[in-house]
Amino acid sequence: MTNKTVPPSSGEPVKEETPDAASPDSGTEAPALEVSGISKSFSQRGRSIPVLEQVSLTVKPDEFVSIIGPSGCGKSTLFHIIGGLVKPDAGAVRMNGAPVTGQRGSVSYMPQQPALFPWRSIEDNVILARELKGAARSEAREEARRWLAKVGLGGFEKAYPHMLSGGMQQRAAFLRALLAPQELMLLDEPFSALDALTRSEMQRWLLELWEENRRSVLFITHSIEEALLLSSRIYVFSGRPGTILHTVDVPFPRPRREGMTEYPEFLRLKRQLSGWMREEQAKSGPLR
Ligand SMILES: Nc1ncnc2c1ncn2[C@@H]1O[C@H](COP(=O)(O)OP(=O)(O)OP(=O)(O)O)[C@@H](O)[C@H]1O
Ligand SMILES: [Mg+2]
Repeated sequence: MTNKTVPPSSGEPVKEETPDAASPDSGTEAPALEVSGISKSFSQRGRSIPVLEQVSLTVKPDEFVSIIGPSGCGKSTLFHIIGGLVKPDAGAVRMNGAPVTGQRGSVSYMPQQPALFPWRSIEDNVILARELKGAARSEAREEARRWLAKVGLGGFEKAYPHMLSGGMQQRAAFLRALLAPQELMLLDEPFSALDALTRSEMQRWLLELWEENRRSVLFITHSIEEALLLSSRIYVFSGRPGTILHTVDVPFPRPRREGMTEYPEFLRLKRQLSGWMREEQAKSGPLR
């Protein structure tokens, strides 16, 4: 936890504003996630298409890190590799210092497509990861109900996924990842199907929740503003094959403030990131 409560000199405890970094001793701690030298090609119609090239990144314990990059540059593929669903051609994945390349079950993962199980009710989808780890179903359901109400899905506990809109399914899939017991969360565009208002509510809610209750998060988004608002660091990917072009440390202290999107430094970073993204998009062409 970075937000320390300093002893009250008078009256209320004061929240100390700390620079935006992981815990002070994180320099000596093994990263929650370390991806080193990952490369991957897929064969399509007899041709080998390089998708990721020499990608290395880290997420420190309790750090919120984002990835942005053009469509098709291999972001979701990188998540599949980290989650052990796809084997890389080269490189390694370590979590808390231990090699986990090709191993499943170490991360809480929200895929780009919500992928709820159609035969399970919404609450039973949400508790899935807990149940797999041996939690009692009734207890897990109780907790799921509280969270479903918070994201505006109260009353849909017993509904099945096909009865929900795309945005509602996305919120349920997000809760499933959030309630999973694994320490590292991979969120692949978790808010992309939401309308602007719900999206900004979910961002604020995630920010508050994460600031109170930190976890290590790797987050894919196409929204530069979302990345700046939520993360401590942003990796900017090139067009396919995806490589890391820039690493941006987001300097704003936590807890992040309501009006930070108007800060001159926020606007400057937003312009810079937009410029890089436009350049990459132009190189990649409109569709790949
Ligand atoms: N299993 C697969 N077999 C063949 N090609 C694949 C496979 N998975 C992904 N690809 C290709 O790899 C490239 C990268 O796909 P990926 O889904 O990782 O992109 P992305 O960066 O997540 O894009 P988006 O922002 O649109 O979600 C695409 O060209 C895609 O067609
Ligand atoms: Mg993707």
